[in-house]
Amino acid sequence: MAARAPAPRVLLCLGALLARGAAAGLEAVVIGEVLENVTLPCGNISATRGLVTWYRNDSEPVFLLSSNASRPPAQPRFSLVNASSLHIEALSLQDEGNYTCWEALNETRWFHVWLQVASGPDRLAVNVSSTGALPNGTRFAARGSRVDFGCASSSRPPPLVEWWFQAPGSRPEPFGSNRTASGFSLILMSPNLQGNYTCRARNPLSGRQRSSTTELLVYAPPVSDLECWAEMSPSPFLLQLTCRWDGGYPDPNFLWTEEPGGVVVGTSKLETLNRSQLSDGQKFKCVGSHIAGPEPGASCMVQIRSPSLLSEPLKTCFVGGNVTLTCLVSGAYPAAKILWLRNLTQPEVVIQPSSHYVISQKGQSSTLTVRNCSQALDEGYYVCQAENPVGVREAATWLSVKEPLNIVGIVGTIVSLLLLGLAIVSGLLLYYSPVLCWKLGSTVRGQDMGDVMVLVDEEEEAEEEENAAEEEEEEEREEEEEAANEREAFPKEIHKHGRVHRVTALVNGNLDWMANGLPPLQDESSEQQSELVREEDRPV
Ligand SMILES: *[C@@H]1O[C@H](CO)[C@@H](O)[C@H](O)[C@H]1NC(C)=O
Ligand SMILES: *[C@@H]1O[C@H](CO)[C@@H](O)[C@H](O)[C@H]1NC(C)=O
Ligand SMILES: *[C@@H]1O[C@H](CO)[C@@H](O)[C@H](O)[C@H]1NC(C)=O
Ligand SMILES: *[C@@H]1O[C@H](CO)[C@@H](O)[C@H](O)[C@H]1NC(C)=O
Ligand SMILES: *[C@@H]1O[C@H](CO)[C@@H](O)[C@H](O)[C@H]1NC(C)=O
Ligand SMILES: *[C@@H]1O[C@H](CO)[C@@H](O)[C@H](O)[C@H]1NC(C)=O
Ligand SMILES: *[C@@H]1O[C@H](CO)[C@@H](O)[C@H](O)[C@H]1NC(C)=O
Ligand SMILES: *[C@@H]1O[C@H](CO)[C@@H](O)[C@H](O)[C@H]1NC(C)=O
Ligand SMILES: *[C@@H]1O[C@H](CO)[C@@H](O)[C@H](O)[C@H]1NC(C)=O
Ligand SMILES: *[C@@H]1O[C@H](CO)[C@@H](O)[C@H](O)[C@H]1NC(C)=O
Ligand SMILES: *[C@@H]1O[C@H](CO)[C@@H](O)[C@H](O)[C@H]1NC(C)=O
Ligand SMILES: *[C@@H]1O[C@H](CO)[C@@H](O)[C@H](O)[C@H]1NC(C)=O
Repeated sequence: MAARAPAPRVLLCLGALLARGAAAGLEAVVIGEVLENVTLPCGNISATRGLVTWYRNDSEPVFLLSSNASRPPAQPRFSLVNASSLHIEALSLQDEGNYTCWEALNETRWFHVWLQVASGPDRLAVNVSSTGALPNGTRFAARGSRVDFGCASSSRPPPLVEWWFQAPGSRPEPFGSNRTASGFSLILMSPNLQGNYTCRARNPLSGRQRSSTTELLVYAPPVSDLECWAEMSPSPFLLQLTCRWDGGYPDPNFLWTEEPGGVVVGTSKLETLNRSQLSDGQKFKCVGSHIAGPEPGASCMVQIRSPSLLSEPLKTCFVGGNVTLTCLVSGAYPAAKILWLRNLTQPEVVIQPSSHYVISQKGQSSTLTVRNCSQALDEGYYVCQAENPVGVREAATWLSVKEPLNIVGIVGTIVSLLLLGLAIVSGLLLYYSPVLCWKLGSTVRGQDMGDVMVLVDEEEEAEEEENAAEEEEEEEREEEEEAANEREAFPKEIHKHGRVHRVTALVNGNLDWMANGLPPLQDESSEQQSELVREEDRPV
């Protein structure tokens, strides 16, 4: 049989034997990878071998290679190693299958080798459905958004896919592994999910693995409103424009332009401009944009203005008294720096606060109080200067210092004369008609007192101009109240004090002493008014 037709018969026998050999369990599993070389051993014996022939066990055994040199291998890829093992070059998936090695020694033996061919993972494709990508390729997702992660690779058999996450400064942590599902989703992205996402695919057969890392940033649009303002900083020659839009990550982009026209001033949060670049009424616009923010961005505008000044041109102070000069700055943006200068002798000198000069500023209103006025030292020009980067304004006030005694003397004389006249008229009337006199006297005295009050108001104005406006208003109010609301105790008392204040000031030139010294009046009747007038008569 073997002599007549050796090859077919051998194969036929082999078919039966192979089945038995399989039953004998003499088999090995060899794993190869596509395009790699693999060697299939013919059993585990390394002793002297006989003739070795390799077959592929498909539906029918197919001859591959023999150690009989006269029989060429089925393909050049096949070769024998150590005269027994089958070496296959450049594996393909079709090479996967069962192989049989037939060894003819004193007795024939069969070995079965199961070759498994693994492929991949190759071409690992990581897909992150993020919001967008930065110019350098790094991907970012908006906070709160949903991100889908996918990891695809060509692998045979299907790979085992693992995802790892590494937050900055911490160790990588696994997200779990799954053979069938290679993707996952994060529904609400939060800043602590920013980091590197690594997909690792592992071929379960060959153990070969491949990984791909994607850096994902979690961006958040600003939460606050865009704000912008101008400041004088640090010197009055420099204008600092500030644009602020907080709560976002990363920092937003800013664009400062001059409006109208849109000439770009700068692109940073803080811009500093020189006075030479500025003009009154100029407008600057800041446009903020954020990569994860609203598409048109946000904008705000500032308009710079030079200061305007309001101050009194003339002020009077009495020797030894106090006087307060007021300077009101309006319209200045940014807020102006207010200085008081003294123009006694050139050059102008900035007044420093001292026990003599008290300077106080509330908002954009500054007051300079000169204490204990002296004619030689304090009379002259006082200049209020308001300066911001847009401009400087100055206003001068002339302070004249007068002797207070003269005024009191003059007023005293006038009052004495008036009262003297009054006394003469009353005397005459009393002499001719006592009854008429009584009626007339009360009215005349009432009118006179009104005159006196006017005089005193003027004096007070001279002495305490700071409070003049307030007092006048108060008096007007009191007179209205007097007419309208005679019975209310409290307003009446205020009114009475006001009257006492005025009258006594006239007599003594010392408001405080008399206001405290006189007992408060109880009623507003004409009798008491005339009594008061009589009281006054005595010291005068
Ligand atoms: C496979 O074997 C051949 C011949 O022995 C060799 O030239 C080639 O480099 C090998 N290839 C690999 C991937 O090892
Ligand atoms: C070869 O394999 C057989 C069966 O699997 C085993 O009994 C024997 O010990 C092995 N020989 C060597 C040298 O490994
Ligand atoms: C060889 O192939 C035949 C037919 O496909 C099959 O019946 C037999 O079990 C195979 N032998 C081995 C060892 O795989
Ligand atoms: C080797 O093969 C040739 C041709 O197939 C054959 O004539 C020869 O007998 C074989 N040698 C052995 C030792 O089997
Ligand atoms: C061939 O034989 C040598 C020595 O016995 C051994 O070291 C080597 O691993 C063998 N090669 C293969 C591919 O089995
Ligand atoms: C190889 O043989 C084993 C049994 O020994 C079988 O399970 C497997 O499916 C076979 N492989 C192929 C490709 O036929
Ligand atoms: C093979 O047969 C020869 C004689 O026929 C014998 O001397 C030898 O020991 C045998 N070898 C084995 C491994 O059985
Ligand atoms: C890309 O740019 C972002 C933001 O500037 C940075 O955080 C990131 O590290 C950059 N990525 C690479 C790969 O350079
Ligand atoms: C993420 O990977 C990039 C390079 O791929 C590396 O520069 C960066 O430091 C990594 N970030 C973290 C948090 O590991
Ligand atoms: C793998 O993913 C599939 C489909 O999502 C799921 O049914 C299965 O439970 C997952 N297995 C593991 C071990 O997570
Ligand atoms: C001037 O002001 C000071 C401090 O407020 C005060 O002590 C002093 O009495 C005032 N002088 C006059 C005359 O009002
Ligand atoms: C300051 O004084 C000089 C000279 O006395 C005068 O020319 C100038 O106008 C004064 N300045 C102000 C603001 O009054």
